[in-house]
Amino acid sequence: MCGSSLTRAPGVLRCAERHSFDVARQGYVNLLSARSRPPLADSGDMATARAEFLTAGHYAPLARRLAEHVADRLPAGDGLVVDAGAGTGYYLGAVLDRLPAATGLALDASVAGLRRAARAHERIGAVGWDIWQPWPLADGSASAVLNVFAPRNPAEFARVLHPGGVLAVVTPTAAHLAELRTLVAMLEVHEGKLDQLDSSLAGEFEPAVRETLTVELSLSPDDVRRVVAMGPNAHHLDRGDQRARLAELDQLAEPVSATASFVLSFFRRAGG
Ligand SMILES: C[S@@+](CC[C@H](N)C(=O)[O-])C[C@H]1O[C@@H](n2cnc3c(N)ncnc32)[C@H](O)[C@@H]1O
Ligand SMILES: [Zn+2]
Repeated sequence: MCGSSLTRAPGVLRCAERHSFDVARQGYVNLLSARSRPPLADSGDMATARAEFLTAGHYAPLARRLAEHVADRLPAGDGLVVDAGAGTGYYLGAVLDRLPAATGLALDASVAGLRRAARAHERIGAVGWDIWQPWPLADGSASAVLNVFAPRNPAEFARVLHPGGVLAVVTPTAAHLAELRTLVAMLEVHEGKLDQLDSSLAGEFEPAVRETLTVELSLSPDDVRRVVAMGPNAHHLDRGDQRARLAELDQLAEPVSATASFVLSFFRRAGG
């Protein structure tokens, strides 16, 4: 509201201008007003499906690889790691496990996500915010920014990272969960447009490493339902016969094989 820094008192964050924001019982702070909540924030059902799917470990290889790369680039193991669109805090928690002296900030517009992110790791602070707005963080305050399947704000990535800081972006490839698209028509994957990502970061960032990670999955009917319910198309579950199609999955005798396919892209904030 005024841009001055916030100080923590029991149950509340306050600035010198006497703006104050309550810390919710579940441990997060929502700096967004109800009016400014972005339309693509995950619903409670989406956050639950995501939490159940991730807790089952299907994307654990991605969390591991992401954490290894970030830790390799932050040898002191400290500083602030911001996860933009953190969801349930699963990836931020994995990164903090590898950085013993770092602090994590989970930014997300979904209250259901923030509740989970606040509990995902003891060193995570969870803050309700809209990624498209200027972030409630000081210039150069972050050592790393994570962005995993979430909206991007390149200008804020550059502003909050200190020179030499790490930006990690995870996007799906065109092959991501392709097998499921025959089963569940709604699960269309938008191809991660990497040249668009690179050009949006040009000037402020230097590319460091890029790698593709492929994970063979064996999914139960419940897993398939969760992966659909946690995705962007869950906003349109009532379209056509999707719910009936998902219910039919129970007839499947065998787990469904599917391939998860991700690109991990790492950049270095120029000027360090
Ligand atoms: C596909 S989920 C990914 C969550 C997490 N990174 C993960 O991979 O488990 C996208 C996340 O971005 C959040 N989101 C969407 N639009 C947003 C916005 N404008 N500002 C903040 N968060 C947003 C959603 O609430 C959701 O948690
Ligand atoms: Zn203020």
